[in-house]
Amino acid sequence: MTGVPVSLENVTKTYRLGDGSRLAAADEVSLELPAGARIAIVGPSGSGKSTLLHLIGAIDRPDEGTITVGDTEVTRLSGRRLADYRARVGFIFQQFHLVPSLTALDNVTTPLVGRKFAGDKRARGRELLAAVGLAGREDALSGQLSGGQQQRVAIARALIADPALILADEPTGNLDSTTAGEILELLGDLHERLGVTMLIATHDESVAALCDHEIRVVDGRATLTETAGASSLYIGRRRKGA
Ligand SMILES: Nc1ncnc2c1ncn2[C@@H]1O[C@H](COP(=O)(O)OP(=O)(O)O)[C@@H](O)[C@H]1O
Ligand SMILES: [Mg+2]
Repeated sequence: MTGVPVSLENVTKTYRLGDGSRLAAADEVSLELPAGARIAIVGPSGSGKSTLLHLIGAIDRPDEGTITVGDTEVTRLSGRRLADYRARVGFIFQQFHLVPSLTALDNVTTPLVGRKFAGDKRARGRELLAAVGLAGREDALSGQLSGGQQQRVAIARALIADPALILADEPTGNLDSTTAGEILELLGDLHERLGVTMLIATHDESVAALCDHEIRVVDGRATLTETAGASSLYIGRRRKGA
């Protein structure tokens, strides 16, 4: 699996407010994100971080502009193709969004319900739970798991469709700082191992230090910079491939 490049061209998303005025949650955003990059999306609360992730993941649609992920022009998709695209994006949320009545393993395999899968879905689910450090907890309900463990289940679920793109929205926002560090380390390991393109929205400035690029969002406007983490990450990856 390899990551995909993500391109946004003049993407605008506005919301109509109660008083009739309009608010640009994304304001003519143009970004070129390299394949396999690990990108922090930083900015104050309400600046438009989640909006950006929702637009890229096609949970939401822009009013204007073009979003291209790999060879797919996401903003032209509809119907079955749109559903297929969404199913191939790995989403991770602040609130985990697990189904409480399902076991960890069933939560991980839910995205595959009703979809074709080459292989044994449950075996793949077990493999992924092991990969996030939860071997042996397949039958646990979310109420029996800590916050950090629940986020690990959610990460395994995000990986089940072999995504080339992972979008994480404040993945550590509900965790204490030690657990947050562990989850970030896991995301970093997965990024390195899988080579996916990974976007992490956060208001934790320390996350940016673990990324090779940073998108800074202010009032719906976004700018991309390469960060100091970049060179070491890329050198690390090259050495591995050699
Ligand atoms: N469904 C919506 N209706 C109206 N305004 C919205 C909606 N979703 C988001 N917004 C507004 O868009 C702006 C950006 O929101 P959001 O992307 O959630 O920011 P962030 O994730 O950076 O906190 C905020 O001002 C927010 O209130
Ligand atoms: Mg948000």
